[in-house]
Amino acid sequence: MAKLIVTTRDGTEHEVEAQPGLSVMEIIRDAGFDELLALCGGCCSCATCHVHVDPAFADKIEPMGEDENDLLESSDHRNESSRLSCQLAFSDALDGLKVTIADED
Ligand code: FES
Repeated sequence: MAKLIVTTRDGTEHEVEAQPGLSVMEIIRDAGFDELLALCGGCCSCATCHVHVDPAFADKIEPMGEDENDLLESSDHRNESSRLSCQLAFSDALDGLKVTIADED
């Protein structure tokens, strides 16, 4: 099983099993991290699934869509590694992907 490495807001790193085909948001939520609210359930309309992606994986993840870009604009914590985790499809190629849950807006 592939792994996703999640750093929570207290700085703790957690390794979770990641099923290809799910979104990174679904993997984090299903692993029980309640600080990732994902209020809209993954339809790219809330921005509460904001994560920072390890730059080492920047060229392996899908490019950002226009809606995602617009939504992230509303976050005070956006930086160049910001993504909405519901828009990141996990695959075996992303085994070992590291994401950090962004601070709450
Ligand atoms: S869960 Fe709402 S934008 Fe990702």
